Amino acid sequence: MCGIVGYIGDKQAAPFLLDGMSKLEYRGYDSAGIAVLEEDGHICVDKCVGHLDALRKKLEGNMPKGTAGIGHTRWATHGRPSDRNAHPHTNTSGKFVVVHNGIIENYLTLKEELMGKGYTFVSETDTEVVAQLMADLYDGSFESTVKKVLKRIKGSYSLVFMCEYDSDKLICTKKDNPLIIGLGEDENFIASDIPAIISCTRRTYVMSDGEIGTVCRDKVWVEDIDGTPITKKVFEVKWNAEAVEKGGFEHFMLKEIYEQPKSIRDTMTGRMDAEEKKINFPELKWTAEEIAGINKIFIVACGTAYHAGIVGKYYLEQLAHIPVEVDIASEFRYRAPLVDGSSLTIVISQSGETSDTMAALREARRLGSRTLAVTNVVGSSIARDADQVLYTYAGPEIAVASTKAYTTQILAMLMLAIYAGRLRGTMDRDREIVLAEGLLEIPEQVHQMLENVDQIKIFARRYGSSEDVFFIGRSLDYAVALEGALKLKEISYIHAEAYAAGELKHGTLALIVEGVPVIVLATQEDVYDKTVSNMQEVKAREAVVIAIGFEGDASLAKYADHVIYIPSTGKYLAPLLAVLPLQLLSYYAALTRGCDVDKPRNLAKSVTVE
Ligand code: F6R
Repeated sequence: MCGIVGYIGDKQAAPFLLDGMSKLEYRGYDSAGIAVLEEDGHICVDKCVGHLDALRKKLEGNMPKGTAGIGHTRWATHGRPSDRNAHPHTNTSGKFVVVHNGIIENYLTLKEELMGKGYTFVSETDTEVVAQLMADLYDGSFESTVKKVLKRIKGSYSLVFMCEYDSDKLICTKKDNPLIIGLGEDENFIASDIPAIISCTRRTYVMSDGEIGTVCRDKVWVEDIDGTPITKKVFEVKWNAEAVEKGGFEHFMLKEIYEQPKSIRDTMTGRMDAEEKKINFPELKWTAEEIAGINKIFIVACGTAYHAGIVGKYYLEQLAHIPVEVDIASEFRYRAPLVDGSSLTIVISQSGETSDTMAALREARRLGSRTLAVTNVVGSSIARDADQVLYTYAGPEIAVASTKAYTTQILAMLMLAIYAGRLRGTMDRDREIVLAEGLLEIPEQVHQMLENVDQIKIFARRYGSSEDVFFIGRSLDYAVALEGALKLKEISYIHAEAYAAGELKHGTLALIVEGVPVIVLATQEDVYDKTVSNMQEVKAREAVVIAIGFEGDASLAKYADHVIYIPSTGKYLAPLLAVLPLQLLSYYAALTRGCDVDKPRNLAKSVTVE
């Protein structure tokens, strides 16, 4: 995830910026840069691809001198990691400088408009458009130009602006991305996250969406876009430095679970027209004919991404009517799959670097298949190798156990299936509208669920000492059950198995005895009665049944020992919500058992060996 820092005061800016950016390194980044307003009144920008050390080396003996500046660590979203795509970005004359976290949704339209007026662009980023727009709209006042720019851009962002014409201030604002102002003595700070400034001050203003902060050496004021002053309360940071990195959460895994409302929103950004209730993928260059020409899809991935692929199979088959096979990458690459020019191979990978998935992608290409990568890391090996890429925009995932990557992968697959269904004529408009309406509610529903986790903590304490746990479900519930079982085993080391509920009686039912926890997912209306019958089968063997179903479903409580209710939604959207209690259950069970949640034994975040 990108990181932002800003400084204005009585000391040299560059050392602070570099130090603040180093405190944001844990978030992951691929390039870094700073802009300093030098003593001669000019803004000097230094940036490069790679880690901060590369930037430090570049600045050795040549540190820009000035007491105001902005810095950025970039985690690529638009345009691969490169020197040119690194922030800060400037307009052509270099008078306006900006750093940005998030996505400017309408950047292509704005870019075309500006190019029509003769502006030229040096990067592939959405951010450069903001700097050029500042120049285009400049009316003699830095503040009023920023407001004009904000009226033109759409999307999610935290932004910090600096301008040569008005050198005694930095201006910052945000929408759907974090931003804080740090308050000092004769100096003030801006950051996307508290770790960047905690060594300098603990007194902060936490900015809300739509607020515009003007930060000078000796004063700070906040107002809305109409110039109405906003009185901010000072928030005193009480966490220690380590807790600060995790945003106050005990572990990265928990932080990432709680980031899901935002990551889900980010995956939809630029692809979901909330007014039209229509899904588009501007980045995919497929014509209706090309999509119609796909006879079969192969989805290939490992681990959690493989489980997202299984969910994707249901979506693509049912909504776009394309037959789908899902393969574990290490199997696909050696099983001589019957892939050819009429196939599309979709590889799913959070890191974009998993060696088996990479090899499977190459094998599919060798066999003549078209390829699409669904990945989180811009510019990753898999993203570079595939014909087309669909980024999930979950932000960096640091905990080994994948959580927000999974929900954004299944969301991307659902949106892809809806989009392909429309192009293939299998998805009628009314159905798309219903699905889009449901999707738009998901971030808030996830948020609400994450506010009420006491029941899950109790279950984790009560059943955390179990030796075996079973997960059952049918249809999409089965796909989610697979992910629930993987989460539990990898971080709590409890033996966990997921079964298609109808398959249990073909062998595994022998293991269901008194007191064994069985988690039953029951969100799929088409197979609901069948699932309830399977629930009764395990209950008859005196298992402890924990059911997961929709709010308002009174019948589950008749057969289950406990019910975890999730907000009622459509069957295709249910996986996005049903997996949350499973992630949380694994997390709290691991805590109960004293496991190292973020770094489970024997596992690595990115598996780059076969
Ligand atoms: C489980 C987990 C792994 C990964 C798998 C694939 O929580 O994180 O199972 O899903 O190693 O990794 P990516 O998605 O990076 O290819």
